[in-house]
Amino acid sequence: MKLWSFLALAVGAAGAGGTAAGCSIQQRTPHQASAAELGLRVPPDSELPAGPLGVSIRRGRALLRNTRDSLPGYVGSGLRCFSCHLDEGARTNALPLIGVYSRFPQYRSRNGLVNLLEDRINDCFERSLNGKALRRDGGDMRDLVAYFAFISRGVAPPGEIPGMGLRQLGHLAADSMRGRQLFSQVCARCHGPDGAGTALGPPLWGPLSFNVGAGMARLRTAAAFIRDNMPIDRAVSLSDQQAFDVAGYLVSRPRPDYARKAEDWPNGDPPEDVAYPTRAALKKGRGMAGRDGGGERARKP
Ligand code: HEC
Ligand code: HEC
Repeated sequence: MKLWSFLALAVGAAGAGGTAAGCSIQQRTPHQASAAELGLRVPPDSELPAGPLGVSIRRGRALLRNTRDSLPGYVGSGLRCFSCHLDEGARTNALPLIGVYSRFPQYRSRNGLVNLLEDRINDCFERSLNGKALRRDGGDMRDLVAYFAFISRGVAPPGEIPGMGLRQLGHLAADSMRGRQLFSQVCARCHGPDGAGTALGPPLWGPLSFNVGAGMARLRTAAAFIRDNMPIDRAVSLSDQQAFDVAGYLVSRPRPDYARKAEDWPNGDPPEDVAYPTRAALKKGRGMAGRDGGGERARKP
């Protein structure tokens, strides 16, 4: 196992269990209440069902942990699912997966369709992992959905939980020159001076990063994730402005393209921070929404 995934697992185990080890390296703020403090329950392994369902759930979690090694044909980046869904999907304000099974089906404006959980999973394969969609009825997809159902036990539809998604920050203009400086002072020790990743942290840009169509390639999404979660060993040490600055630098860096990006938001309603033109918006005469606009951002675009 790579050192950074080991580190994350150790932090994850502490965070989920609320042990002292987690607190000693993290200064908690109100935005960083653990899942347990918010009354959320992550089902312990002792609740794994016996038999084939239990085997499937375990395998699903293993795929999320070691995505690239387990599914090499479907991952085009150096990331794994838990690179962004931190603490194995149990950390609030870090795209938690608790309750996710109850949040679908869900209408999403990005493709203008009612999405099944399988669609959403494949979105992250194609964009966040710059890879390929899994077969919707194949064994790998079944195992992933089985794990998502397990981590969602006890959360009734519509599945909204405290700390869901990312915390919305007020919009600030990003200064990517300041962001670049901050990156080398704070982030480079784990993510590498060139953003290509090290043994301590995954890539942030370059050929092994998420692609331009990923949610994390959007300024406000990246800023909110970074603000509450990075640096991973000292989360919530940046100000909102610093998070926007470093996110601005990050999203300005080169990364893989997403071939079908122009088809996104087919109703012509892309959020303000989408950095590429979409066909429908152009048709509507909106052109580029402009990545520095100050409009509202839905929590789950
Ligand atoms: C680069 C960061 C990143 C990685 C890696 C990543 N995701 Fe995501 N994921 C996101 C973001 C950001 C969102 C939601 C916000 C959005 O759509 O803009 C999300 C949302 C989701 C959701 C919906 C969550 C909800 O609360 O409704 C699921 C399910 C999901 N991802 C599954 C996966 C799977 C499976 C993988 C691995 C194949 C993965 N993700 C890898 C960033 C990531
Ligand atoms: C102590 C090491 C460390 C530092 C410092 C650090 N990170 Fe991370 N970061 C990680 C690890 C580890 C992960 C992945 C977690 C996992 O795999 O469980 C991660 C994940 C990420 C991700 C999502 C996955 C990806 O690679 O796209 C982003 C974005 C990110 N970090 C940005 C930053 C920024 C910006 C800074 C500086 C403000 C920073 N990090 C500082 C260790 C670090």
